[in-house]
Amino acid sequence: MTEIAAVYGSPRRKGNTSTLLKQAVAGARDAGAEVAEIVLRDLKMSPCLEIYGCKKAGQCVIKDDYGKIEELLQRIDGLMLASPIFFYTVSAHTKILMDRCNSLWVKKYWIEKHPFGPKTYPRKGLFISVGSTKGKRLFDGALLSVKYFMDALDMGLWKSLLFRGIETEGQIKKTPASLKAAYDAGKALVHALEGDECLDENQGLAEDPQQ
Ligand SMILES: Cc1cc2nc3c(=O)[nH]c(=O)nc-3n(C[C@H](O)[C@H](O)[C@H](O)COP(=O)(O)O)c2cc1C
Repeated sequence: MTEIAAVYGSPRRKGNTSTLLKQAVAGARDAGAEVAEIVLRDLKMSPCLEIYGCKKAGQCVIKDDYGKIEELLQRIDGLMLASPIFFYTVSAHTKILMDRCNSLWVKKYWIEKHPFGPKTYPRKGLFISVGSTKGKRLFDGALLSVKYFMDALDMGLWKSLLFRGIETEGQIKKTPASLKAAYDAGKALVHALEGDECLDENQGLAEDPQQ
């Protein structure tokens, strides 16, 4: 069975990205996937301490809740990540997870010595984001972070659902088309993982994912 992790990156439990991600989870489950939901604000997770204990075995050595999800993140076929835009990038909760996943980057590029450069990804990710303003470049920062984060997970950014001009808690519920788009994307992700008809958004990253 196709296995997906749904990561809630907002500090709000009933916020806009959480509402959208719940729809995507419903779509993915209706398409037959098994979905594990991870609410980042419920996890006790230190930021990366940059001690590179992960160099030994590609596993983070900080003992906290990241240890509970590190194996899952390597096993899943697909990821659905939802984060609000905070100062033109992802939320702090989301960024802490991204940085902790540097253990997987180290495993991939330093320990297993995967080559840098263009690749096709067997695993796929969906990114959902919302911001209150309407600027053209509102999602640029977050998208770059998400693409390189997903690369560390050996995953291509398959699709991103981005909504501007949404601020108050639950405001997204007033736009049923957004909710439907999220449900449909969850369903379509499962179909994309089971076939190969869909192109990833980050085929050919602008730069090698070197640090
Ligand atoms: C700390 C913080 C920083 C924010 N930074 C931005 C920003 O840079 N650009 C923007 O358009 N909205 C910004 N917002 C607004 C949120 O992105 C917006 O309210 C969003 O709908 C929240 O989504 P959520 O309900 O899923 O948490 C910020 C909000 C907070 C609390």
